[in-house]
Amino acid sequence: MCGIFGCTGRDDLGEVLVEGLTTLEYRGYDSAGLAVVGGSRAAPELRLVKRAGKLSALRSAVDGQDLSGTAGLGHTRWATHGPPTDRNAHPHVGGDGRLAIVHNGILENHEALRAELAGGVELASDTDSELLAHLVAVERDALAREAADVAAGAAQSATVGASVLGEATRRALGRCEGQFALAVIDARDPATIVAARRGAPLILGHGDTASWLASDVAGLIRHTRDVEALMDDQLAILTPESVSVCDLGGNPTRGHRYTVDWDVEAAEKQGYPHFMLKEINEQPGAVRETLLDRFDEHGRLRLDEEWVGDGELRRIDKVYVVACGTSYHAGMVGRYAIEHWARLGVDVEIASEFRYRDPILNPHTLVVAISQSGETTDTVAAAAHARDQRAPVLAVTNVVGSTLARAADGVLYTRAGPEIGVAATKTFLTQVVAVDLLALYLAQERRTLLAEELGDAFVRLEGLPELLDRVLATGDQIAELAAGLAHRDYFMFIARHAGLPIALEGALKLKEISYTHAEGFPAGEMKHGPIALIDDGGPVIALATRSHVRAKLLSSIAEVRARGAVVVAVATEGDTEIRAHADHVVYVPDVHELLAPVLSVVPTQLFAYHVATQLGRDVDQPRNLAKTVTVE
Ligand code: F6R
Repeated sequence: MCGIFGCTGRDDLGEVLVEGLTTLEYRGYDSAGLAVVGGSRAAPELRLVKRAGKLSALRSAVDGQDLSGTAGLGHTRWATHGPPTDRNAHPHVGGDGRLAIVHNGILENHEALRAELAGGVELASDTDSELLAHLVAVERDALAREAADVAAGAAQSATVGASVLGEATRRALGRCEGQFALAVIDARDPATIVAARRGAPLILGHGDTASWLASDVAGLIRHTRDVEALMDDQLAILTPESVSVCDLGGNPTRGHRYTVDWDVEAAEKQGYPHFMLKEINEQPGAVRETLLDRFDEHGRLRLDEEWVGDGELRRIDKVYVVACGTSYHAGMVGRYAIEHWARLGVDVEIASEFRYRDPILNPHTLVVAISQSGETTDTVAAAAHARDQRAPVLAVTNVVGSTLARAADGVLYTRAGPEIGVAATKTFLTQVVAVDLLALYLAQERRTLLAEELGDAFVRLEGLPELLDRVLATGDQIAELAAGLAHRDYFMFIARHAGLPIALEGALKLKEISYTHAEGFPAGEMKHGPIALIDDGGPVIALATRSHVRAKLLSSIAEVRARGAVVVAVATEGDTEIRAHADHVVYVPDVHELLAPVLSVVPTQLFAYHVATQLGRDVDQPRNLAKTVTVE
């Protein structure tokens, strides 16, 4: 949800900023822009370029321009206030035109601020973010007046980190409600960047002769692995030589500093036409990583961090899983494992609804918050609500140091590596495996499985990467199927039991990247209404792997075929009977039915990918979407 990138200490800012934005474009691609403090040392000036549309438009616009300088900021936008036009693109300029700001988030009191500023400034955009630029400029002017009073013998004027721009930003933020990750530059303070956050991510990069900031580490690893995640209500002052952090009260403090272990290649396409296809193919390795080193020296399963004691876990009597989108589907898959292995009741909830319905939470309720980014506002807010009610929260996330990871009582990391394609694939699979691990961990602590049974289940999990390699080999068959069906205007996915979340996920993936209408249904529900949608040749994708309810699913398949549906079945290797029930069959290897979703989701990912490429869609950056959703 908007990408921010900044640097002070490099001269070639035009190239550096565009390259940084390239790694962040997946966060939003409605418009892009950059601002640098350039010009001569004696008369530094602000230079600004911004364009509606994808980053390629900005790239062409900066070509040939002198964008060297001392400090610069770049932004890729996912529009909230105002349509994606040149004038609404960031950076926004405040005051006399020498100060620029980039912002990710929403100012909730924007109407009041707009009214307050109305008499004094002429607004150049429809955005809430521009108000911030003017507010900082107003405060900076007020500070200049205070400084003049000081010179005239009045009381000392207070500034954070001896930076007027820092203090002006801090004061301006004191008047803002809502969420922000923002960064400011000012030609009067040519080598300084001021950055601050509340509710939207911002990572600082420590270099030897330059300092950096970005919305996530993918933007920084090319320059430094020494990073510091800014916490909520913190403000940072970056110069080429230093990064200092204070809270919004002006008191010195620190962010969460750590070393990134991802390498640059992991965030590149490595010969694949799209990140999504690369990431689908990385799934065996990602699952292997997520399972690595999960036992302690006593042979007991462990999570990533010490958290609530064993005794407390034994008193847990209810589990809520909260998540959004694809992560919600991973939670749905996990429910079957937790209920079956740990014998705990599980409700899986859409995070954006959870806290508003006043759920019954107490210290015996375990809340599992799943989010690949760890920054999704709805999920972070649901977790915070649970903690307010004294329910222990376990985060399942792919991002070390993310807001969710830091806000939770415990963390279980998926180790999928960076996921750049907007459609989640490998992070989904690793989330499913992580929740399976959690189910086994709970079973161990609650003693609902014998050590032997637990060991057997873990061995089955460890066998998944090899089986996934076999599923990936169906790629050509699926590409052919997709070519034949791509132009249909409606797809149905049906399944039962643990296959149901995959039906929902298959439909989500298809609509999100191909823009084709698709829906997933519990197969047993078809006859209660959705079957009316079936017409001659309408494609139905049935998740029909081996399970104790397979016979019931076959009845639903027969019902839709009787009404003219073309059925594609994802079935278990060796199931020859299915051929009589389906027009096309894609086989996946045989595994325990609770683990089958890990395999059966892959053909649905590949199907969505190939339909989208057949239709000429922008697979990695589908319209209207953003990878990380940091607004409510
Ligand atoms: C779908 C997709 C989204 C995300 C959702 C939650 O492919 O990517 O539905 O799953 O926005 O994101 P995280 O997991 O970061 O909380």
